[in-house]
Amino acid sequence: MTEPRPTDAILAAFEAAKGFMPLDEGLALYAAATDAAGRLGLPVLEVGTYCGRSTILLAAAAREAKTVAVTVDHHRGSEEQQPGWEYHDTGLVDPEVGLMDTLPAFRRTLHAAGLEGHTVAVVGRSPQVAALWGKPLALIFIDGGHTDEHATKDYEGWAPHLAPDGLLVIHDVFADPADGGQAPYRVYRRALDSGAFAEIAATRSLHVLRRTGSGI
Ligand SMILES: C[S@@+](CC[C@H](N)C(=O)[O-])C[C@H]1O[C@@H](n2cnc3c(N)ncnc32)[C@H](O)[C@@H]1O
Repeated sequence: MTEPRPTDAILAAFEAAKGFMPLDEGLALYAAATDAAGRLGLPVLEVGTYCGRSTILLAAAAREAKTVAVTVDHHRGSEEQQPGWEYHDTGLVDPEVGLMDTLPAFRRTLHAAGLEGHTVAVVGRSPQVAALWGKPLALIFIDGGHTDEHATKDYEGWAPHLAPDGLLVIHDVFADPADGGQAPYRVYRRALDSGAFAEIAATRSLHVLRRTGSGI
């Protein structure tokens, strides 16, 4: 079976957007979101919006399934995106407050992609938003803070909201510490070890798990 593929316009918007996701992982994310939203008819949710690069693909898949993509971020950047760190982008600092602010770039990205009407952006800390959430989700994409504290809270806060047969997608999963930080990998292992998830696909560091049981 051929994998679903975004339109050329969506791919162009994805390639033009600031962010950290390579194309092959993006296509895998799009395929997972198309599958989950199409089967379940429920919203998809992302933790870690940044400038909207991955959001474009989730929103495009949501549009196809006549649902929405929800994306959560405080827009102040993760640890590694702060001044002096590897992934800092000086163009994303709000000069008035002197802090990172990725919200304006995100809004321009979604507008350019024509996907504003299919996206609900929530500005806030992931655990606080998760605690208020009350609707089942077709897919949860975890790509927020990459410390153990943040990744664990993202998993514990959001996984209970995943519908039966929904998909949990985790980014930056590296089994070998030489390849990257271990927090997403530990969350991935925890999900599998819970017995409530089964892995169905992996593209480089992007792993797709299906909810097969209850609990987390
Ligand atoms: C790796 S970036 C996301 C990249 C994006 N998914 C993409 O593909 O371009 C991580 C984002 O998570 C956000 N973040 C980190 N910890 C967070 C938290 N506790 N709550 C909400 N957002 C958080 C940061 O502000 C940052 O924008």
